[in-house]
Amino acid sequence: MMAPYNSFQAALVGLLCLSGVSTSLTVPAFDSISHSQIFERGEDLGAEYDYIVVGGGTAGLTVADRLTESGRYSVLVIEIGRYENGTSVTTASQGIYGFLDSTLQFNIPSVPQADLNNRTIGVIVGKVLGGSSAVNGLQVMRGQKADYDRWNKYFGGGSWGWNAILPYFKKAWRLYPPTPEFVSTNYKVKWNTKYWGSVGKLAASFPKYAFPFQNELLKAMDEIPGVKFAEDSGSGDVGVWWHPSSVDPATWQRSFARPAHWDGVETRSNYDTLVSHKVTKVIFQGTTAKGVQYIPASATTLAGARTVRAKKEIILSAGTIHTPQILQASGVGPKALLRQANIPVVKDLPGVGANFQDHWFQLGAQYTFAKFRPTFQGPNDLYSNATFLAEAQAQFAQNFSGPLSIASGSAAGWFPFRTIAPDTYKSIADRYEAQNPAAYLPPGTDKTVIAGYQAQKKATAALLRSKDAATYNLFIRGDESEGGPVYLHPVSRGFVNINPADPIFAPPLVDYRALSNPADIDILYEFTKFTRKFYAETSIKKWEPVETAPGLGVTTKDGVAEYMRATLTPSVFHPVGTASMLPLKYGGVVDQKLKVYGLKGLSVADASVMPDLPGAYTQETAYVIGEKAADLIKARA
Ligand SMILES: Cc1cc2nc3c(=O)[nH]c(=O)nc-3n(C[C@H](O)[C@H](O)[C@H](O)COP(=O)(O)OP(=O)(O)OC[C@H]3O[C@@H](n4cnc5c(N)ncnc54)[C@H](O)[C@@H]3O)c2cc1C
Ligand SMILES: *[C@@H]1O[C@H](CO)[C@@H](O)[C@H](O)[C@H]1NC(C)=O
Ligand SMILES: *[C@@H]1O[C@H](CO)[C@@H](O)[C@H](O)[C@H]1NC(C)=O
Ligand SMILES: *[C@@H]1O[C@H](CO)[C@@H](O)[C@H](O)[C@H]1NC(C)=O
Ligand SMILES: *[C@@H]1O[C@H](CO)[C@@H](O)[C@H](O)[C@H]1NC(C)=O
Repeated sequence: MMAPYNSFQAALVGLLCLSGVSTSLTVPAFDSISHSQIFERGEDLGAEYDYIVVGGGTAGLTVADRLTESGRYSVLVIEIGRYENGTSVTTASQGIYGFLDSTLQFNIPSVPQADLNNRTIGVIVGKVLGGSSAVNGLQVMRGQKADYDRWNKYFGGGSWGWNAILPYFKKAWRLYPPTPEFVSTNYKVKWNTKYWGSVGKLAASFPKYAFPFQNELLKAMDEIPGVKFAEDSGSGDVGVWWHPSSVDPATWQRSFARPAHWDGVETRSNYDTLVSHKVTKVIFQGTTAKGVQYIPASATTLAGARTVRAKKEIILSAGTIHTPQILQASGVGPKALLRQANIPVVKDLPGVGANFQDHWFQLGAQYTFAKFRPTFQGPNDLYSNATFLAEAQAQFAQNFSGPLSIASGSAAGWFPFRTIAPDTYKSIADRYEAQNPAAYLPPGTDKTVIAGYQAQKKATAALLRSKDAATYNLFIRGDESEGGPVYLHPVSRGFVNINPADPIFAPPLVDYRALSNPADIDILYEFTKFTRKFYAETSIKKWEPVETAPGLGVTTKDGVAEYMRATLTPSVFHPVGTASMLPLKYGGVVDQKLKVYGLKGLSVADASVMPDLPGAYTQETAYVIGEKAADLIKARA
């Protein structure tokens, strides 16, 4: 069965400002440098390590780097994907080539979405050493202070609030400020190095060029009442900002978990990496995690399965889609599901796989600009105008400047719900808050998960009323057409569960349950009205925007909802929440130290621990989770 990959991919290409110019770039030849000991055969591994990290992705490679740097602990990383250093992962100019290489990613068909006309969505995450950071859209931003303070509040306090984790953002990311030329030719480019590190290998850098029409859009955003340009994309504020991309400015290649945390650590004899192998389960003695079982990634049976032991801890970093699969396959999860799958229960943890969330896009209101030509050139010119492309290539070859220095979109607005719906935000938030918390969760949801949703519902209603947290994101490319907004805090909740008929070899059952909660329609209807107002009532109107979808004839809430059911994509590849850091009474899976409740020697460090979505894309936060996890783990070593 194939997911509807092509239409989905096409939409993503639009969102992320991707063009088809890869063949025209000169990229240095493959050149192997030193790195962690790398194995491709299970029989070559040691029998025992202090730590085993499951999944060599964004957070996993960060944790493993930090755990091995002192030389005191031995660490094994097991990654299902391969080691890949070709241009598909290294190219940062104009795109996300890793995304286009289907061998570097999982692409799992979701469960048909009941409220999206039974459409199936491709669930896409990285499957390569480096994980999703090797295939992502390279956009770097971190969300609002309110997001992290909210996570802390679910526990009544602790060490995950904004002030406590800001040092980890600085540890994780080195900022390279924009060039004076970029600053002087673009509208309100602001940054402040106090929110960033100045050492470290993970780079956040700015392009050297922006398509001029982006500035027109930014000026228009600046006219929206109450909107400000934030002092930095990482200041934790809402508003409008230029954000950096994960690009190494010395080579203009993708900066991601592998070069930042794994390349060049060959002197660490305490660090082994096994690629192209899949962890099938954690092995317990009673309730203590003792090791993992693994097989070659290509295996279709358990016949060749091997095991390896961990003396101290096993850290699950397989990501939001696969961490719950491994937990459940190991007997840690909702007991009814485990029984159905004939898996002995090690720990009944109802929250494993529940609380699944992602950002949504393709929410309607697409625009073209009747007067775009001849004033502007945009991303499409890179492949439709040979002269423009040739000039761009010359500039890029000379000093990584020009349009090909753009790795991904680099400016966007991040608006609170009350900014976009000043007249209705209160009543919509009140109505949502008054909902019965169980009403729109899957039938049979455990009472602790319902209690967790109730806590999230209160927090989300407060967020909808707040001036300090963004719900609406208008991402811009500066092209002759622009897509609609991204929805940052959907209130519908889905799940990721093992397939009870085949927990290990069948992909997990992923159900976004998009639009299952009618409050999402209330909110998204306001999105559509605001997007129309933005194009009709700000200075952008002089370029004569034309709404191409759903079309100005669609005005009622029902009409907009019908359109969204037909087009909405409930993922921008930012899945979170399936092994939530929440109190146990709220259906949590890990505590604030990232330890799995009720078990010894098992923790989770990846995006699955985010209890709800930050108001920004998720890579910055995934690295921060890895950094903080390493400190928490070392503190209890
Ligand atoms: C196409 C795409 C575009 C994106 N664009 C952006 C963007 O522009 N900006 C942004 O901020 N965020 C973006 N993101 C999101 C961001 O990259 C992720 O949130 C983040 O990288 C997730 O990190 P993680 O450590 O949780 O998981 P991952 O980095 O996905 O790591 C999980 C790893 O576990 C491995 N694994 C899974 N199962 C097993 C198993 N059974 N055994 C062994 N290994 C296993 C996987 O192969 C993978 O390497 C994007 C993501 C994608 C996929
Ligand atoms: C990956 O390839 C780049 C060139 O594209 C090279 O500079 C780098 O050293 C390579 N890394 C490894 C680990 O081989
Ligand atoms: C979706 O599928 C279900 C189950 O097959 C069916 O009952 C329902 O009518 C379908 N909905 C739509 C909109 O096609
Ligand atoms: C193509 O690009 C060149 C160079 O930027 C420009 O002068 C020309 O007007 C463009 N042609 C069209 C048809 O847009
Ligand atoms: C790149 O080189 C061109 C031509 O020498 C120069 O005008 C431009 O300022 C340079 N840009 C950067 C960012 O160095």
